[in-house]
Amino acid sequence: MSAMSDSRITSVSTEARVFPPPAAFAASARIGSREAYDAVYARSIQEPEAFWAEQAQSFHWFTPHERVLEWQAPHAKWFVGGTTNLAYNCLDRHLAGPRADATAIVFEGEPGDVVRYTYRELHAEVCRLANALTQLGVVAGDRVGIYMGMVPEAAMAMLACARLGAVHTVIFGGFAAEAIRDRLNDAGAKVVLTQDAAWRRGGQVPLKAQVDRALADVPSVEHVVVLQRMAEAPALGERDYDWRTLVAAQSAEHEAPALDAEHPLFILYTSGTTGKPKGVLHSTGGYMVGTALTTRHVFELRDDDVYWCTADVGWITGHSYVVYGPLCNGATVMMYEGAPNHPAPDRFWELIAKHKISILYTAPTAIRAFIKWGDEHPQRHDLSSLRLLGTVGEPINPEAWMWYREVIGGERCPIVDTWWQTETGGIMMTPLPGSIPAKPGSCCLPFFGVSPKILRDNGEEAEPNEGGLLVIDKPWPSMLRTIWGDDERFRATYFSRFEGKYFTGDGARRDADGYFWVMGRVDDVVNVAGHRLGTAEVESVLVAHEAVAEAAVVGRPDELKGQALVGFVTLKGGVTATEELRAALIDKVSADIGKFARPDAVIWADALPKTRSGKIMRRLLARLAAGETELGDVTTLEDAAVLASLRDREGEDE
Ligand code: WTA
Repeated sequence: MSAMSDSRITSVSTEARVFPPPAAFAASARIGSREAYDAVYARSIQEPEAFWAEQAQSFHWFTPHERVLEWQAPHAKWFVGGTTNLAYNCLDRHLAGPRADATAIVFEGEPGDVVRYTYRELHAEVCRLANALTQLGVVAGDRVGIYMGMVPEAAMAMLACARLGAVHTVIFGGFAAEAIRDRLNDAGAKVVLTQDAAWRRGGQVPLKAQVDRALADVPSVEHVVVLQRMAEAPALGERDYDWRTLVAAQSAEHEAPALDAEHPLFILYTSGTTGKPKGVLHSTGGYMVGTALTTRHVFELRDDDVYWCTADVGWITGHSYVVYGPLCNGATVMMYEGAPNHPAPDRFWELIAKHKISILYTAPTAIRAFIKWGDEHPQRHDLSSLRLLGTVGEPINPEAWMWYREVIGGERCPIVDTWWQTETGGIMMTPLPGSIPAKPGSCCLPFFGVSPKILRDNGEEAEPNEGGLLVIDKPWPSMLRTIWGDDERFRATYFSRFEGKYFTGDGARRDADGYFWVMGRVDDVVNVAGHRLGTAEVESVLVAHEAVAEAAVVGRPDELKGQALVGFVTLKGGVTATEELRAALIDKVSADIGKFARPDAVIWADALPKTRSGKIMRRLLARLAAGETELGDVTTLEDAAVLASLRDREGEDE
């Protein structure tokens, strides 16, 4: 483990401090007082249909809905009978108004190249790309894979699909060939949009090469469109098209079709408790209303803002809060391609000063890295353009929150700690910056229409400050609709733990003021640097190695990444445990899933601790990996000697 001594990262504050909304902020906010929030929230829960019908009015619908909600747990339909088009709402709707020639996207590449698109220009690009996809035979309902870096064309790709009603599945650029293959096959993708390579820390990350490797085994894919990002033109195969050539030949006019409110919008794969990633399916109308409304209120967005969410488009945060939510609001969105520490650890602060960024939304893991790199980096730059800060992806420790507030926010910017998930589509719990006093480390209160509860195992509601399981007991517009191709898994994963209620997989408590404190996952999902990983996914890669008999992967606390992966591996008889083998196993995880999923340590085990019924005792292994000596109840452990052998071997990795 890294030997980091900065107490601002590691120590746990017991002080429950409260930070009221800054007066200047509250004065101009849409919801400017706690009373105002309470009133709107109460109405959203007591009269959800009337509330959401009103919210839906600020969007363009080709035909209005007939019913707001049809709820037959676990299946929800929102804005039933309504037709709309999300890309139309993100683009065309702004062309008649004052935002037409405002900047929609300002992009800075890692080498420093800057490109801007106004809404009018972005609209034209998306129309051309939609026409190009049509030429390639893409029709509404077809699935399109997108495997790209953080370039404006990635957003265009998503918008072009949404415009046609083609279902996109964006695959994070950090995933390797096998993970890409599995996702494209599960989705049955017809076309893949990619780029030659992306800049990262001064090097080129090859993307097209990974796609080529993946496609050796994906029969459904007919065409690949390749964006040239690097100086040299990429080699194109038979099914490949050069993006710019293809798009330049198209008309910039394209009429957005009216799509049913429940038309599938995208599939985004996320990790669960089994080895197979889940294709979370979101649909058009509810997702649009949910993401746009949260963006407007949580970030208190104004026309003069320059808004920067640092998430990659490959994750849900990039979908909802880089692309759809902000563009639906006519915002000016910053996109940055590369690493936060290239060429130097002050790159983010340089970008903020240069582009006059006013809203910054990033992850606690990034904030902890900035703390480690030193205050001198932000202090060298003029950060006075910032007026609001946000975090997402994992619990933020109060010390990191305080640092963010003081060093980045100059003590004047409210901080919104937003809790939500791939499955929820949009932000579910957060302080509203003009009305809800924030407590460092708490995601505070539910957003409008969201009904979170903390339950005991038996389904009773927990007392204040009693830890329990976080559930949402009412449907909300941007909720997932199903797991692609596996509705039974959808029901079993989310709606069977407590019949008819959505189970989040998180543990949490609610304090005496009604504030929520999310503690982390209670399932076999690990949050590594804000990336959600299923331990079973990594285990299945390890056991696929010829030397491995059995493997168990757990998370252990990590000061920078939140959690890090540790693999316990039992080798087949006759195989010798060597450093080379250890490195080979870690490399295999990089090659099959991606570098970000690499275990920090591999611990050799003569056998894995199991219950008498043969289940691997992962919780025990997690405590061992965390270096705890008090291992709790081990009476169900099949063979106590196994434990002794593990303890002895653990030291080898430290
Ligand atoms: C965790 C990311 C505490 C949580 C948007 C959740 C958080 C998982 C927070 C979803 C937060 C996200 N405080 N924990 N503010 N935000 N999480 O699907 O465990 O990548 O279940 O969505 O991240 O991760 P996902």
